[in-house]
Parts: sequence; structure tokens; C-alpha cells
Amino acid sequence: MRIGFSRLAQDGKARAGVIATPRGEVMTPAFMPVGTAGTVKGMLPGSVAATGAQIVLGNTYHLMLRPGAERVARLGGLHRFMNWQGPILTDSGGFQVMSLAGLRKLTEAGVTFRSHIDGSKHVLTPERSMEIQRLLGSDIVMCFDECPALPASDAQVAESMRLSMRWAARSKEAFGDRPGHALFGIMQGGVTPELREQSAEALKEIGFDGYAVGGLAVGEGQEAMFGVLDYAPGFLPEDRPRYLMGVGKPDDIVGAVKRGIDMMDCVLPSRSGRTGQAWTRAGQVNLKNARHADDPRPLDEECACPACRGYSRAYLHHVYRSGEMIAGMLLTWHNLHYYQELMAGMRAAIMAGRFGAWEAEFHAARAQGDI
Ligand code: GUN
Ligand code: ZN
Repeated sequence: MRIGFSRLAQDGKARAGVIATPRGEVMTPAFMPVGTAGTVKGMLPGSVAATGAQIVLGNTYHLMLRPGAERVARLGGLHRFMNWQGPILTDSGGFQVMSLAGLRKLTEAGVTFRSHIDGSKHVLTPERSMEIQRLLGSDIVMCFDECPALPASDAQVAESMRLSMRWAARSKEAFGDRPGHALFGIMQGGVTPELREQSAEALKEIGFDGYAVGGLAVGEGQEAMFGVLDYAPGFLPEDRPRYLMGVGKPDDIVGAVKRGIDMMDCVLPSRSGRTGQAWTRAGQVNLKNARHADDPRPLDEECACPACRGYSRAYLHHVYRSGEMIAGMLLTWHNLHYYQELMAGMRAAIMAGRFGAWEAEFHAARAQGDI
């Protein structure tokens, strides 16, 4: 079977749809929790699914270094290894090499780097990235690309984008024809409309199952990111999923969906859960704060997650302050639950043709402040 994308409704530029994979459906707009090293940190796979997530993200870079892609393949693939039977999207490694690895050397062929774990030397090329993602058993494979570190000149961004497009062609060639698995291209081009358009044209010429918008949320700020999202999704085919990589805060996500994005991923809900931060209808709540020490109320009266159903703010504050593992577990669960409720709310609003009203309610609830 081919991985298909059906659009069910559109309201303004916001789209609702469904991605059908052999491992299950993904309703869009979709948020993908990040399971970098074969785990969404602090969550059992059943709990991740209970939040409403239908797909998780894994990372080529981390898994190739530890435990190694060939080892995961020998152990039955990533789904079996991490006990997640739903679809998995894997990022291709180039972006993580640039942000995490030491001593990088970039050439036309690919990138040589040293592991951030033990300093060992490794090589990633488009061909090796496709092989690793195949060994892992990824359902949605990302092209091997390069994302220039900011600040970068227009000439640097253009040169980097062109390299990524040559790598996209090599990724497609190396991926081959794999029914039941999808390959997504990644648009680059910084904040320059002409470069974004050239990148989109190059990707469409090669032809992909879906298209990502890369090179955003790298420190340019929300206004600049929305500036790009005002036009960039329009360069991509309407009948394929559009994935905004590495985004973001709840208001970033709402603004991206409004501008025609279908899929997103971010470490924010899970990472901030481990540092005592909760995301709610009213905005961000810092459970570290002493004001919660005597507060018998749940984090959010209206939230149905285990952290809000079973525990007070006082308890969440206490276990965080005490360094107890359950603090990160409960706050991660709440945050992922909140993110999935956000997606479900947008999906329902798009289906009902009332995305604008939904968005106004979203911003009004946050303007009111703490609940
Ligand atoms: N994650 C966030 N941004 C990017 C990007 O531009 N490319 C890749 N491969 N991953 C990302
Ligand atoms: Zn909750």
C-alpha cells in the first residue's frame, strides 16, 4: 500500500486531513511527540497513545550513534525495539549533526563529524541516511539536508539550499521504490522568498510523498517565521502533507496551521515537562514557583489527563522540588495531552468551518492569564 493523504476540509488556508499508513491513520493537523533515542522520555508508549498521539518522531543521528542502526535492525526494527506499533517519522540526521556533533566537515558528498557521546568519527551522506532510516524501519523518511547556522549571508543560505536540493535528488534515488513507506523532501532557503520558491520547485521536480518546511525555528523569531509561512506553503503541492520541522510553542503551532501546515514536531512539551513547565489553555505555568506549594487545585480544572485528574498543584510542585521522577512523568503527560487537545480542537474547528472563531477563543483564554 502507498502512504496516502486525503484532505477532508479546508477553512481559509487551514487544512484538516488524514495520512493513511500501513501502521495506522494520522489525523491532521498532527503534532508528533519527539522520541529521539527510541523513547518519548518519561512516557510508556501506551501513555503516548493515550494522549492522542498517532505518530512519533525518531532521530537518525542519535540512533546511529547509540545503539546503532544495524543493531536495531537485528532486534526487529525500531517499532519492535521501542514497543511503539504506530507510524514513526525519522529525521535524517543532518540538522542534528549541525546542532549537536563536534568537529564537523561538510562536503558535496556529505558530512563527517564526531559523536557528541564519545568523540568517535562518523560519516553521513544522503545514501547512508536513507540506509539507516530503512534499517530502523521508519514509515516516513526525511531527505538528508543541511540547515545553515544563523546568522548567514544570503549567498550562504542560497549555496546551502542548493546543496540540500542536490542531496534531495540523491536521497530520492537511494530511497528507491518502497511501497508502504514515504519519503518527504525538505524546503530550505531561509527567510528569502525567491530561495524558498526555487527550493520548492527543485523538490517538486524530484517528486516526494510529502514536503517539509525546514530551516525555521532556528532563532529567527515568530514574526519572521510567520512571514515565511505566509507564502512558503503556497509553493508546495496542495495534495501532499506539509510538515513544519521543529515547531513549536502552542501559539506557533496555531499560527502555522492557520497558514496551511499539516504536521509538526517539537521537544518543547516533553522537555519543558522535565523542567517543571506546564502548558495550559491559559498559557505557561511554572510549577517550580513557590506560589503553588499550598495550592490544592489541579493544574487545569478542565484537563482530563492523569496529572490533572489525580494531583494538586501542591503535589506537582513538591515532587518537582524533591527531584522525584514522577514530576517529569506527570508534567510530560499533561503537556503532550494539552498539545493533542490543541490539535483536536483545530481539526474539529476546520471541519466545522469555524477556525477563525476557534483561534479567537484560543487567544482570549491565554490573554486572561493564569487559571
Ligand atoms: N528539524 C528542524 N529543522 C530542521 C531542518 O531544517 N532540517 C531537518 N532535517 N530537521 C529539522
Ligand atoms: Zn492535564
